[in-house]
Amino acid sequence: MLRAGREAPDDAISLLSPKRILAVDDSPTYLHALADQLRDEGYDVAQATSGEEAIDLLAVQHVDCILLDRLMPGLSGAETCARIKAAPVVRDIPLIMLTSLEGRDAMIDGFSAGADDFISKSSGLDVLKARVQAQIRRKQFEDEHRSVREQLLRTEHEAAEARAARELAETRAALVEQLERTNRELATANRELADSNRKLAIANRELEAFSYSVSHDLRAPLRAIDAFTRALDEDAGDRLDPPSRNHLRRVLAATGQMSDLIDALLALSRISRAQLVRAGVDLSKTAAAVIDELRRRDAERNVEVIIEPDLRCCADGKLMRVLLDNLLGNAWKFTSKCAHAEIQFGWQQRDDRAIYFVRDNGAGFDMAYASRLFQPFQRLHRPSQFEGTGVGLATVQRIVERHGGRVWAEATPGEGASFYFTRA
Ligand SMILES: Nc1ncnc2c1ncn2[C@@H]1O[C@H](COP(=O)(O)OP(=O)(O)OP(=O)(O)O)[C@@H](O)[C@H]1O
Ligand SMILES: [Mg+2]
Repeated sequence: MLRAGREAPDDAISLLSPKRILAVDDSPTYLHALADQLRDEGYDVAQATSGEEAIDLLAVQHVDCILLDRLMPGLSGAETCARIKAAPVVRDIPLIMLTSLEGRDAMIDGFSAGADDFISKSSGLDVLKARVQAQIRRKQFEDEHRSVREQLLRTEHEAAEARAARELAETRAALVEQLERTNRELATANRELADSNRKLAIANRELEAFSYSVSHDLRAPLRAIDAFTRALDEDAGDRLDPPSRNHLRRVLAATGQMSDLIDALLALSRISRAQLVRAGVDLSKTAAAVIDELRRRDAERNVEVIIEPDLRCCADGKLMRVLLDNLLGNAWKFTSKCAHAEIQFGWQQRDDRAIYFVRDNGAGFDMAYASRLFQPFQRLHRPSQFEGTGVGLATVQRIVERHGGRVWAEATPGEGASFYFTRA
């Protein structure tokens, strides 16, 4: 098999450098005579006496043209030609088949083996010279043509690559610019958010301090109104007519209600101000304690309560007690008109997160008003239906928020309500 043994590619060989011809013939006499004649014409000549030798030589030497005898023992001219033309590295070297007296069939045989030309040995040197030159020139034209085409392709390819690189760089630059712009906008938005949060926190603190001191300061005059009204009732009650006594009782009821409101407000502001102390809390036990307390206060009620055991979490134990006081207290209160009241405290898992819930089958409410539930003093039922100040769920929300969680509710009027809460 022919291998790439040439020292330089075709197109690197100068047009003017002496051309080397490989002459192949089994007759040393003819071979030497041919070589001498070609040398006289200025060619460099390599010789081989068989097809095999020629193939070996081509593997290590560059030649510009091959003159190949058609009739040789061993590997014939046609077989040698076929092998040379099958080897990618040397197949483009012009190959001229030399014949003795063979006729048309031999010529066809040679051309079908891949020979580029055909010369009779009897044709004389002039013909041989002219045909060799013509073949070498053809090969040179082809090489030049190929080299120009390759150069053109390379240039086009380089231009396309450069265009693609420029487009890529422009796209990347635009992306980086966009990213920087977005980052700048994000940083500004974050600064503004942090600023608003700071202002909000200050406003909240001021509001809490204000509501704390107002609630606190209202207590003393309220106590005085309550005490003096009671004194008036005791001292002069029996001298007053029934409508006036009724007015006194109404004043006392109103002071009692106002006192409850102030207590609730103070409790709410205490929750916002108290330091959060997180520890392991057994929510099931806390819930059971709240229910025991409710049963003691309302011994005549028969409520079915289901508490899921061993619900533990890391939270502020005192605040969790206040939270469950409110949620279970509401469930207790809003089932008071049920023939068979049921309350449940449990949990569900959603996306690796524990969601605790308090569920009842009581009065429920219209979900259209659900957004008002957690605002202070907002009540969805009239005092004549169910008593209350409307601060309980605001307290619950404050507690849940302080634990980094969320609270929400679902309900249907007349069928009950479920309150859910999470914590961070
Ligand atoms: N379990 C429930 N079932 C039906 N409605 C409820 C339930 N819990 C709360 N609500 C509705 O939400 C309102 C606000 O609840 P919240 O606990 O804040 O106030 P309250 O119970 O009326 O008074 P407070 O808790 O301050 O004594 C209630 O008045 C009621 O209309
Ligand atoms: Mg309540």
